[in-house]
Amino acid sequence: MCISVSTYIATMLTLRLVSSVSLTLLTAADPSSSIFVKLTLTPFSSKRMAHSIARATLGLTQPNKIDPPKISFAAKDADLVEWKGDLLAVGVTEKDLVRDDNSKFKNSLLQKLDSKLQGLLSEASAEEEFTGKTGQSTVLRLPGLGAKRVGLIGLGSGGSATSTYRSLGETTATAAKSARATNVAITLASPEGIPAELKLTSVSAIASGAVLGTFDDIRFKSESKQATLKSVDIIGLGTGPEIEKKLKYAGDVCSGVILGKQLVNAPANVLTPGVLAGEAEKIASEYSDVLYAKILNVEQCIELKMGSYLGVAAASTNPPHFIHLCYKPPNGEVKNKLALVGKGLTFDSGGYNIKTGPGCSIELMKVDMGGAAAVLGAAKALGQIKPAGVEVHFIVAACENMISGTGMRPGDIITASNGKTIEVNNTDAEGRLTLADALVYACNQGVEKIVDLATLTGACVVALGPSIAGVFTPSDELAKEVVGASEAGGEKLWRMPLEESYWESMKSGVADMVNTGGRQGGSITAALFLKQFVDEKVQWMHIDMAGPVYSDKKKGATGFGISTLVEWVLKNSS
Ligand code: BES
Ligand code: MN
Ligand code: ZN
Repeated sequence: MCISVSTYIATMLTLRLVSSVSLTLLTAADPSSSIFVKLTLTPFSSKRMAHSIARATLGLTQPNKIDPPKISFAAKDADLVEWKGDLLAVGVTEKDLVRDDNSKFKNSLLQKLDSKLQGLLSEASAEEEFTGKTGQSTVLRLPGLGAKRVGLIGLGSGGSATSTYRSLGETTATAAKSARATNVAITLASPEGIPAELKLTSVSAIASGAVLGTFDDIRFKSESKQATLKSVDIIGLGTGPEIEKKLKYAGDVCSGVILGKQLVNAPANVLTPGVLAGEAEKIASEYSDVLYAKILNVEQCIELKMGSYLGVAAASTNPPHFIHLCYKPPNGEVKNKLALVGKGLTFDSGGYNIKTGPGCSIELMKVDMGGAAAVLGAAKALGQIKPAGVEVHFIVAACENMISGTGMRPGDIITASNGKTIEVNNTDAEGRLTLADALVYACNQGVEKIVDLATLTGACVVALGPSIAGVFTPSDELAKEVVGASEAGGEKLWRMPLEESYWESMKSGVADMVNTGGRQGGSITAALFLKQFVDEKVQWMHIDMAGPVYSDKKKGATGFGISTLVEWVLKNSS
């Protein structure tokens, strides 16, 4: 039995049909156990086949049909109570819900709707304790209006214009889903509440929210309902060419956000580094007038001496792919050169410092390419927007952090492409090792500014929670630019200190540095590590997005970073 098994393995190995992993199991396991026989007799080719079947039937090779609702704008000339459709959604602030002594709404639109409905709107909203908080909604199906249903959607008491109005669109889309509505109208109880300078942003945020709220990632479900929402009328918030232009921009950004969500949601058995690189190539060929792709294989990375990145990739049977997309404006004239660098771990097991124990979330580590998804989502949006005067490099050192006999050991010393040596005292601090070589590569493109995005540390999630990303930069100017862009994009960033004295904990006795300091200030020491690989004359910012990459509540990716990156690139365009 044993001889015939090893003869089988030897034959398969010469035919290169059995992986070396199976061979390791041969020496380690008890030959009489049935598991042993099952594992070692599985030829590599059939394992490969299982992978490619998964990819062909579930993967991005068969994306779901994305059919966003058609958005149109209408003036408020027609009476809203007469609007005919499935759902009339009214955005209301806490103030709009104020009532007079007779418990009647003071707000004129609410008053009008309520009188058509014989006071039922007022009664129902009071009963349901609808106070107009952000995200709160109440939908009633009542006769008496042109619309089949009327919904009140809470706007809270302020907050960023973009996130408030995006949430109005999103909540309306969710309400439309449960009502199986095909057409909705969205309006505000007090449209005059939006300051003139925020009108365009707010209206386009409603549109983005409606589009993003309608999108459901159903690629991996065997059965699911297609979205029903086909059209959204935004009423009484303006019409005309300026608004239409802004709507086109919002649509382009949304398509990038949806791609980003799909990339992050895709599991690691489907989205390997090679598949991620293929997705990048697809973006480049779709917008080939302004984008081109360059994908480096292992040999080319060895030539560039990317020992830090290749150390992380070494354990996996899925080879690494170094992704470089470049955007050049249509007329060719360039004033600013930028780079967006994204962490692209398609899976992070931790390596030999394997993620064990509760709270380590190893099963969630497909999201560890969220930075890469943000960068590629931004590339897709910019490929359509085509800003002038700016060149943008999109860079991802994609790989998988796995465990095997070819993998990096704790204590190994590796050399990055700028010649600096690193003692790897923790294989789970792998993101910074891949980013090191990606940042050196970015600097070699001759860019003036770099923003990197990475799901880098659990410490940042502890510090800022699930919806805020930490930003680290020595440049006040860049901090102002990017934080400004994030406000327009409706995403939350918080600047953290780059405390140089903490570098002390990153010193090694035998190499130039170790890759992790202690538990204290973990996201700061991670950022200080990255700084070692950036030219001093380049303005650089690191965004740690480990918290906001994924929503536990929505059980899915958020598309975080894309709207901010696109806004930032446009600020640098002319
Ligand atoms: N990918 C993780 C960070 C992470 C945590 C991403 C939670 C998304 C959600 C990263 O590679 C990691 O393992 N970081 C370690 C660093 C430590 C070993 C210094 C961590 O945060 O524990
Ligand atoms: Mn890790
Ligand atoms: Zn990681």
